[in-house]
Amino acid sequence: MFRPLGSLLPLQWLMASTATKPLAAITGASSGIGLAFAKKLAPTHDLLLIARRRELLEALAADLSTRHRSHVTILAADLTEADDLTRITTRVAAQPSLELLINNAGFGNRGLFWQTDLDTIDKMHRLHINAVLRLTHAVLGALVARNRGAIINVASVAAFAQRAGNASYGATKSWLATFTEGLHLDLVHARSAVTVQALCPGYTYSGFHDLLGEKRQSLAPRSLWLTAEAVVDASLQGLARGQLVVVPGWRYRWLLAVLSKLPLGLKVRLEAAASR
Ligand SMILES: NC(=O)c1ccc[n+]([C@@H]2O[C@H](COP(=O)([O-])OP(=O)(O)OC[C@H]3O[C@@H](n4cnc5c(N)ncnc54)[C@H](OP(=O)(O)O)[C@@H]3O)[C@@H](O)[C@H]2O)c1
Repeated sequence: MFRPLGSLLPLQWLMASTATKPLAAITGASSGIGLAFAKKLAPTHDLLLIARRRELLEALAADLSTRHRSHVTILAADLTEADDLTRITTRVAAQPSLELLINNAGFGNRGLFWQTDLDTIDKMHRLHINAVLRLTHAVLGALVARNRGAIINVASVAAFAQRAGNASYGATKSWLATFTEGLHLDLVHARSAVTVQALCPGYTYSGFHDLLGEKRQSLAPRSLWLTAEAVVDASLQGLARGQLVVVPGWRYRWLLAVLSKLPLGLKVRLEAAASR
């Protein structure tokens, strides 16, 4: 039976708006790299956005769900707080359509280790390590059982190149990179199609350095600064290729390739010189 095109359109719209999309859960989605992930994934994914600043998440969810007809859920939580973390891991683990977990939430601090507030360092370890550990454990078994999906852990070039005043940040980011490599080996061993990625950006425009009160031009030349969108593009392109470690930007890839070839003593002397 012939139906005029116009009569089909409402049905097509209804199907588009109710069809289930794969779900991506993003920590630290209120700003910077996490926000850029949310914007990039919104056309193709439903989203679970996690961060402390509820009002920013609400505005983002309203914008993305209107623009892309994606289902966007926000979960306001401080992932350094045990109760909040338990609530979030339980919620994320209960999502049958989850295909992508992005462990992105993080912050920096500066200062010689013994002069830095211990509570701040402790929070950094809880956010960069404990929250990632618990969230990954909550979802990975189900992803492996479904034999699909991916986890992106946002580390940093600081995982491979330290500077003075950054001991805990570099150490937690090294843990993230090493942990992700270990997960990759487990998944290969289990012959799973699930993939993991350690995303290791260099200096990126975001709220990160504003929170530290740092002037960008005093940290690095403009040519070394990346946009959050470029970092996300490199990550998702790497994910499509199944790339374990993604370092956005050829300058950073070149720098890390050179550093990795140096004897440890020389590498540490260069790091000390760069810290002056
Ligand atoms: N920017 C850089 O130069 C750079 C370079 C390499 C790696 N990275 C890494 O990239 C990741 C994203 O940082 P960014 O550059 O996008 O900085 P950003 O703009 O400051 O974003 C950080 C995100 O983490 C969230 N967050 C911080 N503490 C949290 C907590 N206790 N609980 C829940 N969420 C928390 C923040 O949300 P709320 O404040 O709303 O909670 C925010 O959404 C971090 O892991 C960072 O280490 C950044």
